[in-house]
Amino acid sequence: MVDHENAPSNPTLGATLGEVVARRQVLKGLAGVATLALLPAGPGLANGNASTLRSAELAKGMDRDHHVASGHDARVLMRWGDPVLGDAPPWNPFDQRAAAQEKQFGYNNDFLAFMPLPRGSSSADHGLLCVSHEYTRAKTMFPGATSNRKVTRAQYEVEMAAHGFSVIEVKRDDSWRVVHGGPFARRVTAGKTEFEITGPAAGHARMRTEADPTGRRVLGTLNNCAGGVTPWGTVLSGEENFHFYFGGDARGAPEAANHRRYGIKAKSTFGWWRHDPRFDVAREPNEPNRFGWIVEIDPYDPTATPKKRTALGRAKHEGAAVVVNGDGRVVVYSGDDEIFEYVYKFVSRDAFGPEASGDLLDEGTLHVARFDADGTLAWLPLIWGEGPLVPENGFDSQADVSIETRRAADLLGATRMDRPEDIAVDPVSGRVYLSLTNNSKRRSGDTDAANPRPRNRFGHILELAPPAADHAAETFRWDIFLLAGDPAAHGARYHPAVSTEGWFATPDNLAFDSRGRLWIATDGAPDIGGFADGLWACDARGEGRALTRHFYRGPRGAEVTGPCFTPDDTTLFVSVQHPGGDFYGGSFDHPATRWPDFRDDTPPRPSVVAITRKDGGPIGG
Ligand code: FEO
Ligand code: CA
Ligand code: CA
Repeated sequence: MVDHENAPSNPTLGATLGEVVARRQVLKGLAGVATLALLPAGPGLANGNASTLRSAELAKGMDRDHHVASGHDARVLMRWGDPVLGDAPPWNPFDQRAAAQEKQFGYNNDFLAFMPLPRGSSSADHGLLCVSHEYTRAKTMFPGATSNRKVTRAQYEVEMAAHGFSVIEVKRDDSWRVVHGGPFARRVTAGKTEFEITGPAAGHARMRTEADPTGRRVLGTLNNCAGGVTPWGTVLSGEENFHFYFGGDARGAPEAANHRRYGIKAKSTFGWWRHDPRFDVAREPNEPNRFGWIVEIDPYDPTATPKKRTALGRAKHEGAAVVVNGDGRVVVYSGDDEIFEYVYKFVSRDAFGPEASGDLLDEGTLHVARFDADGTLAWLPLIWGEGPLVPENGFDSQADVSIETRRAADLLGATRMDRPEDIAVDPVSGRVYLSLTNNSKRRSGDTDAANPRPRNRFGHILELAPPAADHAAETFRWDIFLLAGDPAAHGARYHPAVSTEGWFATPDNLAFDSRGRLWIATDGAPDIGGFADGLWACDARGEGRALTRHFYRGPRGAEVTGPCFTPDDTTLFVSVQHPGGDFYGGSFDHPATRWPDFRDDTPPRPSVVAITRKDGGPIGG
């Protein structure tokens, strides 16, 4: 249940103009760059009412339940283990079977895409939710489990089945409900669903394995984090921390340096490689090359073969933000979520048209970002045969550039960022926002203009401005939108009127509502401020620019992900991942919360939540 009784907090008094200028000067000193026009000027400067968000602000905190700003309802719509396919058996956490989990809602739901029904409409009360299931944690999934690494074969098979995607049909009558087992219902899993590999790496020798001598077919998808929706009605999703799943010793093997660059270790996070030789890099050194891609799924066709689009590069993709450029070309932005990694942009060769399909993503140019101190953002093309991407450096084709995207970007001199996570495009201004979660390993001598804080535990958000809204341009401008953390203690910077509840840390997922207001989900706030992860929101432009306000928070141990609005902004769907999770000491037997069921015989369950406003209006007022 949700506590709607949280009293609105009083905004703290805003900083004076002098303090704002002083902060700018501090930043200028830190970064060696003038960062002007970052904050709004004029009468709204220190005005806590400058925001267009009208709902009362939620109080920070952390307890067993989730909470939403007053005037709203937050209801659990779908939980781990709930039926997806019509013949799914009832969920029994004490007797989990892969055959059941393959038909039930998977674990750790993350990305959410609301796809209206009928297809092509802007329906806001009937649609499909395409949901990614990022990863599993044995300690919170299975009774008695003490290690995520040492799983039994049966547990490994359940974990495989709990990954991937669910497509569920949802309908709003008085409230949202799931239409179980309809014609669109689908589970995609890590073990059973065949994917087609497309683009420059498809069929290359480095993509071939014993099970797939063609290098064009692969079973499953792994660690699907955030994503995006294409204008032709499909869903893109980033395969993020794929290295977790591979183990074994491949020292001296031809792919060893490649594995190292992507963080594959002999002692893997998951124990799967002991049960299946394809996850043992000593046995199948090419199998990791078949993960780390942006995948495409058609939620409207449960028989469609999902694709791995290798032209978009191989990285620990957080997500895939899609824009149709003014000239019709399709642009996909993606962050590589690891400390000191890069930001990428793909530009399709051909323009989007009535007959467009995902094949548009197979031909085009991938770029990597270099953030210059003068506010210029250079998009460096990753084209085989150009610059350092030549045989002398081990690149014999565009397939090599795709498979070793990180090394190619190293050679081009891209900017090493503070964990690039989600990217969202403001539908009103066309500006692009990039969240950088944190990087406590950045040393004081290693800062740069776009990553200005050493030991950055709090993260920040950058604003990227394409010239004349041309997303295909090779040069943008960039600026710091905000520096997260407690403004009183961490050299952080927001709108000066940000309240005690309104500052946050470790931004991760980003989403815009249709009015161009930015919604920010966090991952790691408890480590910084002792308050739960959740959602904050602010205007991106005008007097309320960067005046973030707290809106929703998850239960103890959980991360809030996947914010997704219906086309009319009256519903906001969010994912609650790893409630009661083992990052904070929880286990199946002793979880930090038993949300959302609160039954002594039921573990916490990752779930999708539907947030609506009590008066039916747009979320946030
Ligand atoms: Fe899966 Fe970068 O969060
Ligand atoms: Ca994420
Ligand atoms: Ca995350």
